[in-house]
Amino acid sequence: MLIVTRTIHFCAAHRLYNDSWSESKNRDVFGKCSNEGGHGHNYTIKISVTGPINKQSGMVVNVTSLRDILKREIFDKLDHRDLDKEVEFLKGQISTMENIIVKISKILEEPLNKLGVKIVKLELNESDKNSVTLEL
Ligand code: NI
Repeated sequence: MLIVTRTIHFCAAHRLYNDSWSESKNRDVFGKCSNEGGHGHNYTIKISVTGPINKQSGMVVNVTSLRDILKREIFDKLDHRDLDKEVEFLKGQISTMENIIVKISKILEEPLNKLGVKIVKLELNESDKNSVTLEL
């Protein structure tokens, strides 16, 4: 299987907080990530896709087309945003890496299928120490 991976970077703010819990429960579970003022991350997402090699182009996917989709669907919606207040597709979700990456996989599924490829793996890093990988 051939896998093509593209990486995007974005900066965003968020807060881990469950409204249905007390302050102290939020503090116990999320620690300082529940602080009222929120905090920021320099996020990285790696999107890996697979598909057959196009005989004419010799490519699995045109990386320019892939770049444009990722910019439109992900980067433009997330970069320099408050993930909890400004991002429509994250409304009502706790903005954990897990919830973010699952939502992103759903958003990208259709446009990437139209390009003739399928997502096999998504990796979201919020720092060089923490990452979540979704394998499909
Ligand atoms: Ni955080």
